[in-house]
Amino acid sequence: MTSSYSIEALDKSKHNLKAFDCGKTGMNDFLSRFALKHARLGLSSTWVLASKQPGKMREVIGYYTLASSTVTKSGIPTNQSLPYYPIPVVLLARLAVEQKYQNKGLGAKILVSALRHTVKLTNRGLPAYGLVLDVLDNDALKFYQSFDFFEPFTDNPMRLFAGMDSIRQL
Ligand SMILES: CC(C)(COP(=O)(O)OP(=O)(O)OC[C@H]1O[C@@H](n2cnc3c(N)ncnc32)[C@H](O)[C@@H]1OP(=O)(O)O)[C@@H](O)C(=O)NCCC(=O)NCCS
Repeated sequence: MTSSYSIEALDKSKHNLKAFDCGKTGMNDFLSRFALKHARLGLSSTWVLASKQPGKMREVIGYYTLASSTVTKSGIPTNQSLPYYPIPVVLLARLAVEQKYQNKGLGAKILVSALRHTVKLTNRGLPAYGLVLDVLDNDALKFYQSFDFFEPFTDNPMRLFAGMDSIRQL
């Protein structure tokens, strides 16, 4: 299966964005209406797992969106001493898999790609103490809980944190 798909930068001339349906309207709309616009504005970057179909618009199997953000030290599940000013983090703003491809391990594959991408960004100089994401609902929470490197914020169980040390070990 992996040889039939590849992770690529979102490109509306190659990827069929309108056909994507992960079962969550907001996630579908973001991909088809806002992802490219937000990339142009420098707000976020979106990458897709796309089928390799030569000569036609390629099906989007799933996608992830990264952005920069800051968090305050209170709530971060860490024993390290941190300053009181805003702490830079990479935000995993969105991650979704087309409905017909769910429960086949592709969400995990896309998540690992997003985390490796985060490591590359920090290796190139982007400061980030870790990666943060806001969980959409309880199903998504179960998905993220199946990976042992995420910990909930101490003041918000639907906000998860992964430290750069854990991510670098992937
Ligand atoms: C959440 C989502 C990305 C998961 O993608 P997926 O391809 O179905 O997930 P995978 O098949 O890679 O599953 C990886 C692990 O998560 C577990 N998992 C996934 N969804 C689960 C659920 N609803 N309940 C319990 N476990 C779940 C799988 O069992 C698997 O665990 P295992 O490795 O121990 O077997 C996908 O369901 C989706 O796109 N949902 C709609 C959009 C969304 O909610 N995105 C998250 C926003 S925060």
